[in-house]
Amino acid sequence: MVEHVIRMCPQTKSVLTVRENVLIMFRTLLAVAMIAAVPTLAAAEGDAAAGEKVFRKCKACHTADEAKNKVGPHLVGIVGRKAGAVEDFKYSDAMKNSGLTWDEATLKEYLADPKAKIPGNKMIFAGLKKAEDLADIVAYLSTKK
Ligand code: HEC
Repeated sequence: MVEHVIRMCPQTKSVLTVRENVLIMFRTLLAVAMIAAVPTLAAAEGDAAAGEKVFRKCKACHTADEAKNKVGPHLVGIVGRKAGAVEDFKYSDAMKNSGLTWDEATLKEYLADPKAKIPGNKMIFAGLKKAEDLADIVAYLSTKK
């Protein structure tokens, strides 16, 4: 930033006015802010490849690659599915009667804090605390149709 303050105008060789300096600094700041905003937007969108890594935390109990239940129900087609809908899985009453449909918003809320979202559900998982992890895992699960 300092170089802007002391920059000389190449044509006139005069020191730039305060107003010109402010304009240059403002434009630089704007450019920096725009560059900084890009990864934030990407995080809000969710990254399926990063989500696959987050899914390691779920793998002991879930698969999303085939319609096979483990400790938890399979997660094939989970986005858009009603909660508690896998026929041969023994859900808790809390999950069966939650009345939820899994979409981006409900999944994020549940996975951030399973006990708070559906009190009495039997998934033993503390929750994902990072907004980025939540966005990424939903992006990953969205690819499992
Ligand atoms: C310790 C085992 C365990 C872990 C770890 C776990 N889950 Fe679960 N999950 C369960 C069980 C058991 C249920 C069924 C809950 C019920 O019936 O109350 C469940 C239910 C779910 C449901 C609702 C499924 C449906 O058919 O309605 C989703 C979605 C889910 N888990 C996603 C995840 C994700 C994503 C992770 C990782 C971030 C995760 N779970 C980690 C055991 C686990």
